[in-house]
Amino acid sequence: MKRTIRDLAELQGKVVLCRVEFNVPIDEAGRILDATRIIKAIPTIEYLSQKGAKVVLLSHLGRPNGYDIRQSLWPIAVLLMKKIKASVTFCNSVIGDEVKDRINAMKNGDVLLLENVRFYKGESECDMKFAKQIASLGQIFVDDAFGVAHRENASNFGVARLLPNAIGFLMEKELNALTTFMEKPKRPFVAVLGGSKVESKIKILNRFIEVADVLLIGGAMAYAFVSAQGKSTGLLNIQRENVEIAKGILEKAQALGKKILLPVDHACVRESDPKKNVIIVENIVKDMIGYDIGPKTVRLFSDEIAKAGQIFWNGPMGWYENSRFIKGTKGIAEAIAQAKGYTLVGGGDTAAAVNSFGFAKKIDYLSTGGGATMKFIENGSLPAIDVIQEKYI
Ligand code: 3PG
Repeated sequence: MKRTIRDLAELQGKVVLCRVEFNVPIDEAGRILDATRIIKAIPTIEYLSQKGAKVVLLSHLGRPNGYDIRQSLWPIAVLLMKKIKASVTFCNSVIGDEVKDRINAMKNGDVLLLENVRFYKGESECDMKFAKQIASLGQIFVDDAFGVAHRENASNFGVARLLPNAIGFLMEKELNALTTFMEKPKRPFVAVLGGSKVESKIKILNRFIEVADVLLIGGAMAYAFVSAQGKSTGLLNIQRENVEIAKGILEKAQALGKKILLPVDHACVRESDPKKNVIIVENIVKDMIGYDIGPKTVRLFSDEIAKAGQIFWNGPMGWYENSRFIKGTKGIAEAIAQAKGYTLVGGGDTAAAVNSFGFAKKIDYLSTGGGATMKFIENGSLPAIDVIQEKYI
């Protein structure tokens, strides 16, 4: 069991470096489009502040290549100033004399947000020189950034190797929710998987075949399975190796007696139709391309979801960003929101879809991780968490 911030004695006056996950969508005007990850980090920040620590926050935003004002954490600092019960300031660098001076001027309980750690090349490379420069700023490291815990970066993995450390409340919550979900599942356990690339989902599909009872597969990756059943995918050309992957998954499910349900109808357009009208078909033929699951599939999947003891969902059912192909993803989101079983939604896109439909409050657990949630389910651990000290040593 990992050490948590509750186990940290004597925080009064200590400089605590706290890695948070503030990688949130921000528009060109600097407006935060979804603040969930920021809001969920507040209990840890306020706890540290109320214990008298000088709280120095570290986060990445996006995937910048060097300094880029559009990916500055400044808009997040402004939000924190309104939301946090402590004095919050911002510093536009991560290492160097200015940061040191700012930290020296902090009072107990103050919060200082540093600039985007990915403006420095050493972050993603986990350059230990950069990690040492960050670590030299404080005395204790707290990792509350579950969403990036699958990455071995300098500001999580690197700094944790250099300072006494612990996980924060959000990290603890994510670990408990996912561990209970995977290790003590309520049956029947239904996993709903969508999204695009079947080749990137092999491990997770295999894991769910072992642990879940029913797999519902939608999204673009479902077409590899449609093809594996010997059916046409119209103009969509599925690579041979992906068809083989899908065949392997279907065979494994059969061998283990697990149920896999695939789309039985599709929302398509005909390439030859100048108006590109949406048509619903059971069999995709010739000049058609499928962009979403059809209404029969929504009903079929919804029936399974209604009978489930617990449901996991990751990956949209179709091209939901286009309003003409939103129905599949929205229909499944609605079925999950109404389900009696315990519901856990993981993944950036999926959580964003649930939020945009207004169903977030009806989901029992909405993970703040995208790739991290999937990797944790696949492997049962993540590198930036493994590196944190155990509770009893
Ligand atoms: C995420 O949003 O999934 C995390 O912040 C990780 O981001 P990355 O994929 O750019 O490393």
